[in-house]
Amino acid sequence: MILDIRDLHADLEQRNVLKGVNLKIGEGELHVLMGPNGSGKTTLAKSIMGHPAVKITNGEITADGKVINDLPVNERAKLGLFLQFQNPIEIEGMGIVNFLNSARGALNKEKISYKEFMGEIKNNVESLKLREDLIGRSLNYGFSGGEKKKMEVLQMAIFKPKLAILDEPDSGLDIDAVRVVAENINEIRRKANASVLLITHYSRILNYMEPQFIHIMADGKVVREGGKELIAQVENEGYTPDEK
Ligand SMILES: Nc1ncnc2c1ncn2[C@@H]1O[C@H](COP(=O)(O)OP(=O)(O)OP(=O)(O)O)[C@@H](O)[C@H]1O
Ligand SMILES: [Mg+2]
Repeated sequence: MILDIRDLHADLEQRNVLKGVNLKIGEGELHVLMGPNGSGKTTLAKSIMGHPAVKITNGEITADGKVINDLPVNERAKLGLFLQFQNPIEIEGMGIVNFLNSARGALNKEKISYKEFMGEIKNNVESLKLREDLIGRSLNYGFSGGEKKKMEVLQMAIFKPKLAILDEPDSGLDIDAVRVVAENINEIRRKANASVLLITHYSRILNYMEPQFIHIMADGKVVREGGKELIAQVENEGYTPDEK
């Protein structure tokens, strides 16, 4: 079990947002989290990664056998957790190669030569169909929405997390880019047997992926769970079929 969340309650700015979340993710598994806007998906992602704005009031998050409720973000990253932001921030002056290299060092990854490291970046830039000159720029600075999303996938490729939480990696992507991003995530997962918690509103990205578990969140809780069949159901009926 890479992640085990039990009865998680959490507040944002004194407002109770998570109201008893239970979620288990095994090694190498692909889980999808869907649910209406404001239901708490991003808050859940932040609570797993240790965002300082999220105050856990009850329950437990266990990652790789260790209770991480009070662990700082960098220690969680060292355990193999990775969060792709729904809205990646721009950091002017932070060169991408430097950023990737320092973060990789801080994660205690095995040492590789500069040539190998640059080769790995170039391969991923190519397979993500990013322009090569982008990596000479500041992190996300002036990037298009789609380029920012791909840059997060590049980070996942370089950091090789055990569990990647991907918060809407497909939002704002064009049709081709959705496929490219999905294929890259699949490939990174395959190489490292990584687990993924993928948050999305759209089934399109799932046409290119094989999720084993679907969780639907509403009002701060996981309210429905199932296999891939749940996606078609939600697409057809919406989240609140009774009210239609
Ligand atoms: N810093 C904050 N202070 C107070 N409330 C917040 C804060 N951040 C988020 N919230 C509220 O918490 C609730 C859950 O937000 P969250 O971002 O987790 O939803 P979500 O499920 O990811 O939605 P979406 O699908 O739109 O991304 C929302 O009502 C939101 O307004
Ligand atoms: Mg969100």
